[in-house]
Amino acid sequence: MIDATGERDADVLIADGRVVEVGPGLRGDSELDAAGCVIAPGLVDLHVHLREPGNEDAETIDTGARAAALGGFTAIVAMPNTEPPHDDPTVVASVLAAGAVSLCDVHAAGCITEGRAGAALAPMGELYALGSRIFTDDGACVAEAGVMRRALEYATSLPGAVIAQHAEDPSLADGGHMHEGEWSSRLGITGRPADAENVIVARDCMLAELTGGRVHFLHVSTAGAVELVRSAKARGLAVTAEAAPHHFTLTDAECASFDPVFKVHPPLRSAKDVAAIKIGLADGTIDAIATDHAPHAVETKERPFEEAPPGMLGLETALALTITELVEPGVLSLPEALALLSWRPAAIAGLADHGGPIAPGSAANLCVIDLNVTWRVDPLRLASKSRNTPYVGRTLKGRARHTILRGVPVVVDGQACR
Ligand code: DOR
Repeated sequence: MIDATGERDADVLIADGRVVEVGPGLRGDSELDAAGCVIAPGLVDLHVHLREPGNEDAETIDTGARAAALGGFTAIVAMPNTEPPHDDPTVVASVLAAGAVSLCDVHAAGCITEGRAGAALAPMGELYALGSRIFTDDGACVAEAGVMRRALEYATSLPGAVIAQHAEDPSLADGGHMHEGEWSSRLGITGRPADAENVIVARDCMLAELTGGRVHFLHVSTAGAVELVRSAKARGLAVTAEAAPHHFTLTDAECASFDPVFKVHPPLRSAKDVAAIKIGLADGTIDAIATDHAPHAVETKERPFEEAPPGMLGLETALALTITELVEPGVLSLPEALALLSWRPAAIAGLADHGGPIAPGSAANLCVIDLNVTWRVDPLRLASKSRNTPYVGRTLKGRARHTILRGVPVVVDGQACR
């Protein structure tokens, strides 16, 4: 068993949704075999697009939550770029209601601005009252410094609230479809420069200092952004950051296939950026691995590269990619990887019932990980309604064997219970 307090050999006894006892030789009325596996707090994903309401052909709250549970997640934060978006308490309430009967705890990020248009602030207080703690216009950057300042100032009056920025300055990135660099020049595809991200991260670190507000940088993808977050943290600013698996496993060279499955915002970057993300994960600069799970219906991703929507699936491959690409090569220890996938993101989102520690009285939100199983990514076997994984055919190591949500097994031996 591994949690934030350390590692030990133990059984976990659960009753009424809570951990009752932790120790060797425990017996219960019904048992899940975890021999040879690691019991960990359930994984927590700060960044998931569930597409409901509005694009249920790509994903629903039910299918997205099932994919999450199969990936070992017990809590996910739904991004607000639905149609209509999460700038309206009735929309957020409906997302939470659907999430409450799904296989994973679903939390709803609220919008920062009305219609995610980057101008007037959304009713953040009302969304906060419904439980939103992360506020973001994700998919769109809050480009106006003054709007970001007001959002940060307002958030300081809401305990635990954090402003999460999609850091890409539209005046630099708009019209681009991949990372601006050698590959975009060779391929003749308009680029989105790394500095589109860097200038917003630099600016928002300054605004965090000015306002005392908390800023979380979504899907950090550049070496420059990692360095800016590192120095902001060294100055004691309330800044956190996440990285997505595709930004530590894939480079812009993938776009040479012209396959839109590799199109994502922010884009796949250079090998130098990928190396910097890995260092940022290893040295604690980056706080969380978050999937940016972005399902798109098959017909939309089959358009030409320039016309296809950005985004790729992530929930069912994140754990295995972390084990295969970071733990196995020695970039991270397993406890460090689990911290990035579970208790550190849980702390950012203020999810007291997730991320452990696994101790008597704590909520029984757990995952049991088989580190030794190898499996091949087959888009047809994913629970997501969409198929846009960039890892088709890859052999990965490690998988969630069981997932337990409030004491109830929702995934057993890699199968969802419904
Ligand atoms: O690639 C992306 N897709 N980046 C985003 O920020 C939004 C997301 C989506 O909603 O598809």
